[in-house]
Amino acid sequence: MSKHNVTLVFEDGRSERILADENDTIYMACLRNKIRILVDCLEGACATCKGFCVEGEYDLADFSDEALTVEEAAQREVLTCQMHVRSDCVIEFPYESKVAIKGEPKSWECKVAVVEPVSSTVHRLEIEAIDTDAEHPVFLPGQYVHLSVPGTEDKRSYSFANPPHETGTYSFFIKVLEQGVMSEYVRDRAKPGDEITMTGPFGHFYLRNPERPILMVAGGTGLAPMLSMFDHMIETGMTSQPVNLLVGANDPAELFQIDELDEYKAKGISLTTEVAVVEGDDSWGGETGHVTDLLREDLIGDGVDVYLCGPPPMIEAAESWLAQNGVDGKMVHAEKFVPS
Ligand SMILES: Cc1cc2nc3c(=O)[nH]c(=O)nc-3n(C[C@H](O)[C@H](O)[C@H](O)COP(=O)(O)OP(=O)(O)OC[C@H]3O[C@@H](n4cnc5c(N)ncnc54)[C@H](O)[C@@H]3O)c2cc1C
Ligand code: FES
Repeated sequence: MSKHNVTLVFEDGRSERILADENDTIYMACLRNKIRILVDCLEGACATCKGFCVEGEYDLADFSDEALTVEEAAQREVLTCQMHVRSDCVIEFPYESKVAIKGEPKSWECKVAVVEPVSSTVHRLEIEAIDTDAEHPVFLPGQYVHLSVPGTEDKRSYSFANPPHETGTYSFFIKVLEQGVMSEYVRDRAKPGDEITMTGPFGHFYLRNPERPILMVAGGTGLAPMLSMFDHMIETGMTSQPVNLLVGANDPAELFQIDELDEYKAKGISLTTEVAVVEGDDSWGGETGHVTDLLREDLIGDGVDVYLCGPPPMIEAAESWLAQNGVDGKMVHAEKFVPS
């Protein structure tokens, strides 16, 4: 019987990937991996083990209508004590990871390989695993990790800019604030060889199998996880749907990776990019204003999957526009770069 990769995502954003045999129920596959998801009857009657299968193929054995209605089953809610996967799957559980998993999320000792400014306020940080033989982090494109800040006891959250299939070296785009623990480290002290601990992965903000056109809105370094998604789309051939990407920054000097976006088009993504800056300068010939001012009805058409990433006010403005314009909230995935 075949085995498939199953990613379990818990309410607090922690995710774990297990290998599940088609013969095993998800409950059993979790148990084999020392993950104790919530169960009670184990007969498909109580709904304690309910989750939501975000993507992938599966079968459900016997279950009662009280535990899972026809409508719930049609919406891909699943009873994991009755679930056998038939392909790689992603399953979300409505409770925190500590309920099911003993121990802390995985950590990797890394060292800085590259730290370089890529715009007036953004640095690219590339780190590499020190133990090259160790198991690599397994993440979904769009997810993030905690990075320790060298010389301090602090850690901060950053979204992977590299795709999951690139292992051993990990890229992040970090906005350098005037004051801030990580900002000051990156601007003033960071150098190749510095040791950084990476912990994770975490997050509900990840690329779903594209079945509709995609609309992405990225504010500042909110572009980082979109880059991971684009590389993943190319690697896995998920390029059938058009992507409209709206990018925003405070001024033209803050923009980064804009010219590089053309490479994704050359590699097969039908990508249209529009950029807005809050304050233009004499050389700026593009749009001025907030990135959310670029939202228009033609970008949502007959239905879109929406990915929003960046500062909280941008996300809130975009969510409110999308709701007012009839976009189903279930299709909207967002990551707010809230300060720690
Ligand atoms: C899920 C997630 C993913 C993220 N991904 C990214 C990413 O890919 N790229 C990215 O650039 N950012 C990302 N962030 C934001 C990131 O985690 C940090 O919040 C950001 O980089 C600031 O960190 P810092 O240590 O430089 O600033 P902090 O030290 O956390 O300070 C944050 C702000 O508070 C202010 N401040 C600090 N101390 C005080 C004080 N005593 N009194 C008043 N104000 C104070 C600072 O001036 C600064 O403006 C993400 C956040 C989340 C939650
Ligand atoms: S444990 Fe009761 S339905 Fe699965």
